[in-house]
Amino acid sequence: MFREKVTADWLPRVKASLPAVLVDHAHLERKAATTALNLEKYRDLYDRVGELNAIAIEELQHFELVLGLLKKRGIPFGQPYPSPYITGLMRSVRNGNRNQAIDHLLCCALVEGRSCEKFQFLAAGLQEMDAELAAFYGSLVESEGNHYATYLLMARGIDEKEAEERMDFYLDLDARLIREPNPLPMLH
Ligand SMILES: [Fe+2]
Ligand SMILES: [Fe+2]
Repeated sequence: MFREKVTADWLPRVKASLPAVLVDHAHLERKAATTALNLEKYRDLYDRVGELNAIAIEELQHFELVLGLLKKRGIPFGQPYPSPYITGLMRSVRNGNRNQAIDHLLCCALVEGRSCEKFQFLAAGLQEMDAELAAFYGSLVESEGNHYATYLLMARGIDEKEAEERMDFYLDLDARLIREPNPLPMLH
């Protein structure tokens, strides 16, 4: 689906700063939970409020799991950094209730899709170095993949043609943004 691969330096960079990446991951799950709740403001999604709540609960559970890992490893929960990738996607969300809902859902779908992909890389790439963390990332892959699919289907459910056209635009934008160098120890 994606039109550009995650850059080759991503995994080594993450492996070199695992504690900081785990703090970033905790914030990522926290933001994923609040994002699911924020989507409930769109009138086109009023009848999906139960599904969005379920995603928010799942993300909050992921947040708790990452916090548990931080605690176990003696890593203090710290400051969040804005992700240039996520900010870059969100900057192109159009105004107007329906367009905004579709764009917002597609941005969320791409972030979830990239998380799913990167968690698979971590599950494989951390096996030697940190088997516990490798297993942890492996255990999150299915859930983030489901979030990707749910958000994409929700966007299509609002307006299939519009969602397809905007997904084409967002896949190009994702391909541009994923190549941008980000020196900070972050997942996205
Ligand atoms: Fe999650
Ligand atoms: Fe998710």
